[in-house]
Amino acid sequence: MGGMQIRPFRPTDRDACYDVCVRTGLAGGDATGAYSDDSLTPDIFCGPYLELEPDLAFVIDDGERAVGYVLGAHDTADFVARYRAQWLPGFERRHPLRDDASADEREMLDLGYRPERMLTRDLEEYPAHLHIDLLPSAQGHGLGRALMTTLLEALTRRGIPGVHLEMDPANTGALRFYEKLGFTRLEAEEPDSLRMGLRLPAAS
Ligand SMILES: CC(C)(COP(=O)(O)OP(=O)(O)OC[C@H]1O[C@@H](n2cnc3c(N)ncnc32)[C@H](O)[C@@H]1OP(=O)(O)O)[C@@H](O)C(=O)NCCC(=O)NCCS
Repeated sequence: MGGMQIRPFRPTDRDACYDVCVRTGLAGGDATGAYSDDSLTPDIFCGPYLELEPDLAFVIDDGERAVGYVLGAHDTADFVARYRAQWLPGFERRHPLRDDASADEREMLDLGYRPERMLTRDLEEYPAHLHIDLLPSAQGHGLGRALMTTLLEALTRRGIPGVHLEMDPANTGALRFYEKLGFTRLEAEEPDSLRMGLRLPAAS
């Protein structure tokens, strides 16, 4: 696609990244209005990465704004510790637990409040994890593959042996995308999620 460029994240991309996250947050589709506050989903799946690991965040720039991103955490255990210490206090202030929240919203809040859910048993083989999302207009043109390659190369340069991700099994398009890129299914620990992993080559 003409005019699209992959480049490192800059702090001024934050709002555009939050927008991408909301508009792709429901099994790959638009999650706008799904919760009482649209910043809930990105405050779990986007903001912590921009804040805690900005060097592993890359965006697709269409000349005006970020229309897609890939976000990485190079060491999930370290990420979880820093999320709890540095991100969770602000998250708790912005998203207090409320008795009148819907069951779906409580479930989402629980993900935000419980970063230790990311401490799965395959972290030795797959210590890094990632999130990738593109606005619908940017999808299907090879940009997801290019963005993913950028992150995988950055992880490989750091000597990370493997990367994993967790996804909604209802998102069959994303599943095919990850399979095309060589990810294989890992043992899932929760019934409504699907985990995939990719081993990385040794750094040269
Ligand atoms: C999933 C996503 C990241 C893929 O990025 P993309 O730019 O659309 O994918 P690409 O065009 O780079 O495709 C790369 C390969 O995956 C395949 N692929 C991508 N999306 C596919 C789909 N929906 N169904 C089948 N195959 C697909 C392509 O055919 C392509 O194969 P090829 O390189 O051998 O030709 C992007 O569509 C997206 O952001 N979707 C919405 C948000 C989302 O679901 N994120 C993942 C959450 S877990």
